[in-house]
Amino acid sequence: MTEVIKARLLIVDDEVAQMQALCDTLEDHGYQVLGRTNGEEALVALRHAPFDLLLADLMMPGMNGIGLLRAALAIDPMLVGIIMTGEGTIGTAVEAMQSGALDYILKPFKLSAILPVLGRGLTMRRLRLENAALEQRVREHAAELEAANRELDAFTRSASHDLRSPLNAVLGFSTLLVNEFGPRIPVEQRNWLVHIERSAQHMSQLIDALMRLSHVGRQALSLQAVDVASLVRGVVDDLRQEQPQRRVTLQFGDLPETVADASLLRQLFVNLLSNAFKFTRNTEQAVIEVGCEPQGEERVFFVRDNGPGFDMTRANRLFDAFQRFHRADQFEGNGVGLSIVQRIVQRHGGRLWAEAAPGRGASFFFTLARAVEPLSPVPPISG
Ligand SMILES: Nc1ncnc2c1ncn2[C@@H]1O[C@H](COP(=O)(O)OP(=O)(O)OP(=O)(O)O)[C@@H](O)[C@H]1O
Ligand SMILES: [Mg+2]
Repeated sequence: MTEVIKARLLIVDDEVAQMQALCDTLEDHGYQVLGRTNGEEALVALRHAPFDLLLADLMMPGMNGIGLLRAALAIDPMLVGIIMTGEGTIGTAVEAMQSGALDYILKPFKLSAILPVLGRGLTMRRLRLENAALEQRVREHAAELEAANRELDAFTRSASHDLRSPLNAVLGFSTLLVNEFGPRIPVEQRNWLVHIERSAQHMSQLIDALMRLSHVGRQALSLQAVDVASLVRGVVDDLRQEQPQRRVTLQFGDLPETVADASLLRQLFVNLLSNAFKFTRNTEQAVIEVGCEPQGEERVFFVRDNGPGFDMTRANRLFDAFQRFHRADQFEGNGVGLSIVQRIVQRHGGRLWAEAAPGRGASFFFTLARAVEPLSPVPPISG
């Protein structure tokens, strides 16, 4: 059998007969009611146990209804207050609402007038409780996420640091061997040493990449209006200068100013565009397109190329660190660039996705539009 939880009402009126009559009537209507004849006693009751609604008479000797409501809200900010007044002046009603009352009722009142007000009050109480629970959950999740990120970053940093010294020993001693005994080492064994050195250097690059990835997650966001068009042109100029022999056609679409962290946004475009340059290396007429299109409320930026693309069936792991779809002897890399892009987009509260097909090029899309500011706590509701 399910137990019906009755709404708890606290009724405060210095006129005992009226208070008692109201208590009796509301009890008959299924409410759990407690009556008090002054503010002080009402506050004692409220400190003792929670109530859903407070119905307070406005004019009472000592603490009046508004003073009582203020003190009651200090005890339970989610309490819903209703002021009962015989005065009926707009002034007192406004004052009651300003001090946090949800509503006021004029005395003498009929039951048919008070029941809908109570119904609205209880709905408000339920919403306040649900909202508070939701806020609490958001706070807990944010704290958990932050703790997990901190832990992961601390792990990454200490693992990178700890890996570095044995690696340096491997590199140092293999170099020493070559330098000291080089001519006396047989050719085949010398090749082994070259392999050891190359692998150790690769590992050193992976450690650097891990450190960069961890840094992107930790560095404070500095949001500002960014001229995306000139930022992208700067990145492209740098890439062209690094590879002057490359013939690449660049097509720039509309690139509107946007709010972002300029250095992270630059890093994002460096990673996407250097991939586009790299993977179109063997494409006869390489074309790279950068632009932005509105999609509903959002602006979707994209970087597209006509390189070898990749198989979308594996794309679910595309943005994970160290994931690569091409062999290192075809296209060099550590598989970290896109995971950094992913982190940058996430930190701006946006989304990142890709579309590609083998031999048909690749397109990367991202938004920065949502929540460019860190999650701020929802302000508490006031009466
Ligand atoms: N424009 C692209 N065209 C085809 N494949 C791509 C493209 N961009 C990324 N990929 C695929 O996704 C993989 C991961 O890309 P990511 O940028 O993370 O690593 P990387 O370029 O291999 O190395 P790094 O960026 O660390 O130097 C690439 O190895 C490649 O297989
Ligand atoms: Mg890359």
